[in-house]
Amino acid sequence: MEMRQVSGFRFEVSGKGFSMRTAAVGTAMLSVLMLAGCRQDMHDQPKFFPQRGTTFYADGRSARPQVENTVARSQTHEDEYFYSGLKDGKEGDGLPLPLTPELIERGQERYNIYCTPCHSRVGNGAGMIVQRGYRPAGNFHEDRLRNAPLGHFFNVITNGYGAMPEYASQVTPEDRWAIAAYIRALQLSQNAKSSDVATGGHVEDLHAIAKDAGMQPGLADPWTLPATAIYGTPDNQDHGIPGQPGSAAAPAAAK
Ligand code: HEC
Repeated sequence: MEMRQVSGFRFEVSGKGFSMRTAAVGTAMLSVLMLAGCRQDMHDQPKFFPQRGTTFYADGRSARPQVENTVARSQTHEDEYFYSGLKDGKEGDGLPLPLTPELIERGQERYNIYCTPCHSRVGNGAGMIVQRGYRPAGNFHEDRLRNAPLGHFFNVITNGYGAMPEYASQVTPEDRWAIAAYIRALQLSQNAKSSDVATGGHVEDLHAIAKDAGMQPGLADPWTLPATAIYGTPDNQDHGIPGQPGSAAAPAAAK
């Protein structure tokens, strides 16, 4: 027996014993054994391919519609108020889930993502998109919206309102309530009374705070839309859309 070294490996070369022929026979036997154990039943079983038709059902669809009068686990919307904001068909008031600091924080986060482009961070309806020409969005600090029931905000997010698109597909019902709760906090932030704060706390006018802090005059005034804001239609014609300049429903124009 001789030993050879080829590029760092040592191997033995022998005249008899293990030969290439033995190896080939062994491999063939092993393959036969393995193939015999291999069955295609799982692969070949009758099945539907997603999004492909079938001749099995009369309507030719492999995806089946929901069976009538059945409810899937995630579809139990028995709490009508939680999912619609409506009580007996009318917008209800009250939060259908516990009010916690986490909920308000979540509401703030979602509000800042989904609502501020139009309503702005302070909720006055003069967000960046509005400043660039979108129809002025609702100002949450007007009396009507301050007195609106919580269900109104849920309803508006769910179904849209006038020029505002609906956000039901992007914002879950729970998050819609969180946003509604946060809007209430925003409203309170601009209109708090002494009775709203814990004893010992005090409410100070924003103008007074700004003046004391030596900030520029007018900082605490309500925002106004810049003159560059376009308010109307591209051709400046009144197409009868409520809220356009000149129309009866126009909100107070920017000062
Ligand atoms: C693309 C811009 C846009 C976004 C984003 C938007 N809104 Fe609005 N929203 C509007 C406009 C515009 C109006 C005023 C509707 C009109 O005058 O046709 C409005 C009105 C409202 C009103 C007042 C309804 C009333 O009774 O007058 C509420 C409440 C409101 N939006 C809540 C929200 C909330 C909450 C979000 C975020 C989930 C949101 N909006 C996101 C554009 C927007």
